[in-house]
Amino acid sequence: MNPIRHRFARLLLLAAVGAGALMSTATAAAADARPAFTPPSAASLPDTEFGKIVRQGEQIFLHTPQNASKFVGNDLNCASCHLDAGRRPDSAPMWAAYVLYPAYRAKNGHVNTLAERLQGCFRFSMNGKPPAADDPVLTALQTYMFWLASKAPTGVALKGQGYLKLPAPAQKADYVRGSEVYAQYCAVCHGAEGKGQKNGEHWVFPALWGPDSFNWGAGMHQIGNAAGFIKANMPLGQAGMLSDQEAWDVAYFMNAYERPQDPRYTESVAKTRAKYHDSDDSLYGIEVNGHLLGSDSPAPGGKLTQAAAR
Ligand code: HEC
Ligand code: HEC
Repeated sequence: MNPIRHRFARLLLLAAVGAGALMSTATAAAADARPAFTPPSAASLPDTEFGKIVRQGEQIFLHTPQNASKFVGNDLNCASCHLDAGRRPDSAPMWAAYVLYPAYRAKNGHVNTLAERLQGCFRFSMNGKPPAADDPVLTALQTYMFWLASKAPTGVALKGQGYLKLPAPAQKADYVRGSEVYAQYCAVCHGAEGKGQKNGEHWVFPALWGPDSFNWGAGMHQIGNAAGFIKANMPLGQAGMLSDQEAWDVAYFMNAYERPQDPRYTESVAKTRAKYHDSDDSLYGIEVNGHLLGSDSPAPGGKLTQAAAR
């Protein structure tokens, strides 16, 4: 067994420890009045021309740099943040997203079609270029989402939609406490420097910061989004074991390092912060440990070096 797989197996053995924590999540969910939904099983996918495009969409979702290379500028997959191929509840699942578009988005101040929403994923989360709205890549992704949402009600927020919204932390999120959580629960997979791990050519564990990660415009750089994602989904195989405070602290820690520049960058870090990041949820343009975040990321198009991301 190679060392990465071996460590992974050991962590899965520990998953039993997390089971108790999962039960308390289940109790909290009893108060959730949103309707439940289960997407269709892979086995029920028809062997038709339509089914072929659904499968294509799923493959793009799972192996994004390989299957949509023109539009991707990092080593993440859509499924890196939308787990189980976009099926898992509280991981912003695709079946729940599908039925909510077109939707108004404060991020760009107008009603977005699903195609435009997906273009944003490529530009920010994938640190790439948005495909044209009628590009076969977007058609395949939307076909996959449409199929996952078969028989779901339209325009309804379903149980498990989006990421968890954690209550504000009891203590302000903290870098030092976050670094301890990171060393204990995350570094084994994502690496001490957050750059992830490769097994030969293939990424096994994705980068959390640095040149191969999502950029400063992506939703996951917002501490609240990251905290909710982490609480419900990480450490992988032991989800639910972190306290809310630990999730906030480690979300702060991972977003206190350099990552590729915000593609909306205008003139200076300070102006870009004022325009797009003016909230406690973003560390862009904030000084942490004597470093102004965003100042070492080259303007869009330039490549951040690993050294600058330490
Ligand atoms: C780095 C993590 C990350 C990656 C990679 C990523 N996303 Fe997301 N995605 C998020 C976050 C965080 C949100 C919610 C926050 C926001 O609105 O910005 C989100 C939201 C979405 C939504 C809206 C969900 C809803 O319920 O409204 C869709 C659809 C989506 N992503 C699709 C994709 C697709 C398709 C890809 C691959 C091309 C992708 N994402 C890659 C993190 C990611
Ligand atoms: C057992 C290995 C493992 C551990 C431990 C682990 N992760 Fe992950 N993490 C993964 C994998 C694998 C993915 C990608 C999901 C997939 O491909 O199914 C991921 C995805 C992520 C993502 C979204 C993708 C990205 O690169 O930004 C974040 C954020 C993240 N993990 C944070 C954490 C944090 C914080 C911890 C510690 C509390 C942690 N993870 C612990 C394996 C792990």
